[in-house]
Amino acid sequence: MKARWLTALAMLAGLPALIFLPPQPEAAEATDRVSGLARNGDWQLVQANCTECHSSALIIQNSGNRAVWQSRLVWMEQTQGMAALNPETEDRILSYLTENYGPRQSTRRAPLPNHLLPANPYPTL
Ligand code: HEC
Repeated sequence: MKARWLTALAMLAGLPALIFLPPQPEAAEATDRVSGLARNGDWQLVQANCTECHSSALIIQNSGNRAVWQSRLVWMEQTQGMAALNPETEDRILSYLTENYGPRQSTRRAPLPNHLLPANPYPTL
């Protein structure tokens, strides 16, 4: 009985701390909480034009120089029904993508060596 009373008191003592936590300043965040896009330059233009058909995760996990990004846009226009962007919008989007998601080394992990893999239960060829 006493323990329960003490628990209740401890919870009540914690309440003001929860209520008066200062709000986090949004401008200080490097990436947008909802889309995950880097909050740098024209990220909102990309969010507005590029997340209608798929998640922004597809954008973030990709990388490339300007020509690679442009080829992705052309591919989406020619095969996925993306409306052609006006030249100024396309230019700004390509600059954002190249600056924030430029060429990088492969982020795939190296394959595990055989002795670290689980046993294969099937006969091998
Ligand atoms: C009209 C619909 C549509 C719009 C708008 C659109 N996309 Fe896509 N995009 C697709 C489809 C469909 C795929 C393939 C999805 C899948 O593989 O699951 C795709 C795939 C991608 C990929 C992955 C390509 C790969 O190599 O796997 C990237 C990167 C991408 N889109 C970027 C963008 C960017 C940047 C924009 C804004 C300029 C955009 N998309 C706007 C339809 C669209």
